[in-house]
Amino acid sequence: MQKRTRPKPDPAGPLTGTEKPAPYLADANTVRSGDACAVLHPRFKSASSLSRTERDEQLLGEAVGLAHAINLQVVHAETITLNSPRPATLFGKGVVERLHNLFWDIDNLSAPCEITVVIVDATLTPVQQRNLEKAWECKVIDRTGLILEIFGERARTREGRLQVELAALDYQRSRLVRSWTHLERQRGGAGFMGGPGETQIETDRRLIGKRITRLKRELKDVKRTRLLHRQARQKVPYPVVALVGYTNAGKSTLFNRLTKATVEAKDQLFATLDPTMRGLEVPSGQTAILSDTVGFISQLPHELIRAFQATLEEVVEADIIIHVRDGAHVDTESQKIDVLAVLKDLGLGDAIEGSLIEVLNKIDLLTPADKEALANQSTRSNIPSILLSAVTGEGCDALIAAIDTRITERFQVVDVSLSLSDGASLAWLYEHGDVVERLDDDKAITLKVRIDAANWARFERRV
Ligand code: GTP
Repeated sequence: MQKRTRPKPDPAGPLTGTEKPAPYLADANTVRSGDACAVLHPRFKSASSLSRTERDEQLLGEAVGLAHAINLQVVHAETITLNSPRPATLFGKGVVERLHNLFWDIDNLSAPCEITVVIVDATLTPVQQRNLEKAWECKVIDRTGLILEIFGERARTREGRLQVELAALDYQRSRLVRSWTHLERQRGGAGFMGGPGETQIETDRRLIGKRITRLKRELKDVKRTRLLHRQARQKVPYPVVALVGYTNAGKSTLFNRLTKATVEAKDQLFATLDPTMRGLEVPSGQTAILSDTVGFISQLPHELIRAFQATLEEVVEADIIIHVRDGAHVDTESQKIDVLAVLKDLGLGDAIEGSLIEVLNKIDLLTPADKEALANQSTRSNIPSILLSAVTGEGCDALIAAIDTRITERFQVVDVSLSLSDGASLAWLYEHGDVVERLDDDKAITLKVRIDAANWARFERRV
């Protein structure tokens, strides 16, 4: 059978006739929606137990999910076992060659698509990235680059976009090889093209430096405005309930169900980057603010944590944190560990113990036996845990009741009237509660105070 292969570009000069150029040489900076891609997950031989293999399969699946999140069409996905990473290309020579043949021989692919992007689910050095692009003649993106692409697509608020751009520029400056789609779009297509000469690299470095300085200044302004908004909101006597969880755990679906609002809920990773907040009425008549946040991800590159700040700030300041877990995911336990580790990284380690409620979502996908096992497991945990399905609504009342109890216990709003001379009580309330309203007249000081039940009892004993 005659093999059909894609025409290869001549690196020495421009293409002629009807040949289709390889993207690396002709259009180095763009990942387009619908582009065909290959996803490669490197696995190191030293860790080759069975469970490790399963874990690698899940990680490959996750990387494929991330590629789908920016609408790439995955036509090949593979876990590649490595004895040891090669400094020049990560993969060994044989593997690089085999993959080149695979990428360039469309008969070998399951779908009749030309691979224009290869995603390597690892951190590549700039040299490895460049060498692989040369060897495979297509764009190569590593894990950090992929996550940046996703953030770039999904950031909605101004602060979110600035944070992402800053992270992308930092990343780009460290390699100065090529840039990322969203930056290119913002720059109107004038890019840091692949293969620039020395002068071009210097110019790019200077431009990036200038842009970073400007971005940092803009971010400061945006943050200040945001702080003002938050201060205004804190005066409102509403506790904040934040939904956090692994990407695709079902946070947006639960958010919709609880608030009956419509935020994006897609079977895609990272459907949300910036916080979405809505009021939530609980049965006792109190109102909370429910905040939906971006999904966590395993092995989130450290330098990208700051790009989360726009959403994570809400979590840091939340009164109640609901950790939404995908109870039907085979890897639910290690996902939980990942999320808790990220929360700890954010300085939320011990502090969240008392404010955390765990939700085991997607129970509609479980068999009765699995459901029982999950329920048993959750009763052994010291964090209150609720089994539910955000899709069918089963268990959602129990969650609302749990939120209500927490709010009532911890964040009731009481009206207090103090005599003008009772400065000590006034100071005590400011210290132990949150004074949300104050009215001074000739006879008394009238306050609305948000205070937890224990402190309120202490106050009552005091007076
Ligand atoms: P990110 O925004 O990526 O962090 O995701 P998320 O946690 O907000 O997840 P989202 O609500 O977008 O849901 C992801 C997928 O899971 C969607 O296809 C939902 O329909 C599905 N899903 C959510 N909750 C349930 C559930 O209780 N049962 C089932 N069967 N599917 C669910």
